[in-house]
Amino acid sequence: MPTCLLLTVWFLLCIPGSLHMVGAQNQIGATTHPDDEKALNSIFAAWKIRASRAWNTSGELCSGAAIDDNIFIDDKAYNPFIKCDCTFNSSTICRITALKVYALDVVGPIPPQLWTLIYLNLSNLNLAQNYLTGSISPAIGNLTRMEWLTFGVNALSGPFPKEIGLLTNLKSLGIGLNNLSGPIPAEIGTCTKLLKIYLSNSGLRGEVPSSFANLVELEDV
Ligand SMILES: *[C@@H]1O[C@H](CO)[C@@H](O)[C@H](O)[C@H]1NC(C)=O
Ligand SMILES: *[C@@H]1O[C@H](CO)[C@@H](O)[C@H](O)[C@H]1NC(C)=O
Ligand SMILES: *[C@@H]1O[C@H](CO)[C@@H](O)[C@H](O)[C@H]1NC(C)=O
Ligand SMILES: *[C@@H]1O[C@H](CO)[C@@H](O)[C@H](O)[C@H]1NC(C)=O
Ligand SMILES: *[C@@H]1O[C@H](CO)[C@@H](O)[C@H](O)[C@H]1NC(C)=O
Repeated sequence: MPTCLLLTVWFLLCIPGSLHMVGAQNQIGATTHPDDEKALNSIFAAWKIRASRAWNTSGELCSGAAIDDNIFIDDKAYNPFIKCDCTFNSSTICRITALKVYALDVVGPIPPQLWTLIYLNLSNLNLAQNYLTGSISPAIGNLTRMEWLTFGVNALSGPFPKEIGLLTNLKSLGIGLNNLSGPIPAEIGTCTKLLKIYLSNSGLRGEVPSSFANLVELEDV
């Protein structure tokens, strides 16, 4: 009898746990990495915006439109929006690879958690046209997979961190129309894949290194 009671208690405790596990998986049986989940939820909370039900389906960020290969990050029907890559750890773990928060009148500084989304890569971080204030953290150097980054049309101030030089996969950088100050960091010269830089009215002064063999488009200061 005591054994049965124990078993009953065990089941009561255990079943809600396993139901939660099932509920937390997306339609392809993978889950968002807890670090990315925590980071995105706190970024959105800080900016007072919410994910749509089209992707944060039943509380799973990397689900629905976020993992639909036929829906791209620049799709105007989804904003804010993320895209995920769910092929990690034998297709059980999803990492957030793209983030769009475009012209949503988001106000305030860039939450530090943004720099922990280290799998951000494609068309990714479109924070343009909000009212972001404060400086750009040197922790930007964490985002080494980033290929397309734009912070354009905001109120960011302070210097542009030299850690930009760590983003060696960068193809396009947009920082125009901001309130930055100081020089364009020379370290940007190590971003040899850069094809486009948008700098108009960023507040930065100085020259972009002439060493960019690939640079096809430069909207200068
Ligand atoms: C996603 O949904 C969960 C559960 O409804 C919620 O707690 C979380 O804040 C949502 N995330 C975002 C980024 O809106
Ligand atoms: C794979 O799983 C391990 C153990 O859970 C985890 O530490 C690691 O971050 C995962 N890999 C990726 C790319 O998320
Ligand atoms: C860089 O990313 C790692 C992994 O997510 C994180 O632990 C660390 O805090 C990040 N660094 C900064 C300065 O945000
Ligand atoms: C970015 O994502 C694309 C498509 O998933 C992939 O082919 C490429 O290798 C990734 N780049 C980096 C630097 O991770
Ligand atoms: C621009 O940045 C300076 C500090 O560098 C600050 O004093 C000023 O208020 C900022 N202006 C706007 C419009 O944000």
